[in-house]
Amino acid sequence: MSAVLRDRRGVHFEVLPPLALYIHIPWCVRKCPYCDFNSHERSGALPESEYVASLFRDLEALLPSVWGRRVHSIFIGGGTPSLFSAPSIDALLAGVRARILVEPGAEITLEANPGTAEAERFRGYRDAGVNRVSLGVQSLEDAKLRALGRIHSADEARRAVQMALAAFDNVNIDLMYGLPGQSEAEARADIEAGVALGTPHLSAYQLTIEPNTVFYSTRPSLPEPDSCADMQRIVEETLERAGFEHYETSAFARQGRRSRHNLNYWEFGDYLGIGAGAHGKLSFADRVTRHEQMKQPREYLQGSATAQSKTVAARELPFEFMLNALRLVEGFPPALFAARTGLAPTALEPGLRQAEDKGLLERTADRIRPTARGRAFLNDLTELFLPQE
Ligand SMILES: C[S@@+](CC[C@H](N)C(=O)[O-])C[C@H]1O[C@@H](n2cnc3c(N)ncnc32)[C@H](O)[C@@H]1O
Ligand code: SF4
Repeated sequence: MSAVLRDRRGVHFEVLPPLALYIHIPWCVRKCPYCDFNSHERSGALPESEYVASLFRDLEALLPSVWGRRVHSIFIGGGTPSLFSAPSIDALLAGVRARILVEPGAEITLEANPGTAEAERFRGYRDAGVNRVSLGVQSLEDAKLRALGRIHSADEARRAVQMALAAFDNVNIDLMYGLPGQSEAEARADIEAGVALGTPHLSAYQLTIEPNTVFYSTRPSLPEPDSCADMQRIVEETLERAGFEHYETSAFARQGRRSRHNLNYWEFGDYLGIGAGAHGKLSFADRVTRHEQMKQPREYLQGSATAQSKTVAARELPFEFMLNALRLVEGFPPALFAARTGLAPTALEPGLRQAEDKGLLERTADRIRPTARGRAFLNDLTELFLPQE
């Protein structure tokens, strides 16, 4: 079916996708030289209560778009949300619950930096309703942590993980590989040290050099691409041998511990985004929209609810869906595409055929999934679903 015909048929939902909530806290103790997230070095005390009030302002402005819907997961990300006190997180989650229905048993994650971890604070977060913590460990080698400009040592990271595991049974650690000057043996030792920490979830990212970061101008010497590919293989093999399921490009979980919030992104669910620079996606009976909040914390705090919202063109939805769903190692059931884009299943056909012909994707009656080659060349695979001019 041509793109034009697809547009004419348009988007139609009988049942809306599941809904999640992302809350952005935009401050850090120090900006890491590789980081291009909307995070800003803190100067002085943080305006915690003013910021929480602004988050409620955003949420209230979005409520008419989600009347009657329930939130099934919440992710408080950053930046460094663990800079906020437990009472502020408590006020935040209480205020969210007062404004929108949060499903009982919803997954509620808070991102923490090992440099800001305290046992008492973790217990306070738990009492506020947080039930999952994600710690940015990055590496367990001091020299690498210094090269990454991190504010914590490997021992501090270990202690932070122990504290988190004492308060929560659902804990993730973020690690990176392909670090400046890293050898394959060092990458292996790092991932083994990560496994030894005993968390049920682990995310392992290859370090990328992003524009507008310090590393973009200083260009640290990184391992060659072939070596990074070997490190990726070492990471995957080590984690699989340790009993983790590799379920998304960079995500590994013990059985039953996959991140429900992140799975919702990869399955192209809906999410509200509140906080400086946060973005969200919402479906309506006849369209899919995206919204984005003002980025700079100072302007954000001063402004009124200003989320910019736009409708996603129907012809762009197959690519947007695949950009997420093809990250899933096990792929997705064929019916998910229509359920999450509101388009006819045929809108995906031309891209699927090309991808199969190139050996990048395979289909069974109940699954559409990337092949090993497709996962290795994920950008090439995803591009096959770009709208045709
Ligand atoms: C939203 S960040 C925030 C985590 C938390 N602020 C921290 O750093 O402790 C989530 C994760 O993305 C990864 N990440 C950030 N920048 C990256 C980059 N340039 N390349 C690869 N991974 C990156 C890091 O592992 C980081 O922990
Ligand atoms: S602590 Fe995390 S969010 Fe903050 S600058 Fe470093 S990587 Fe970015």
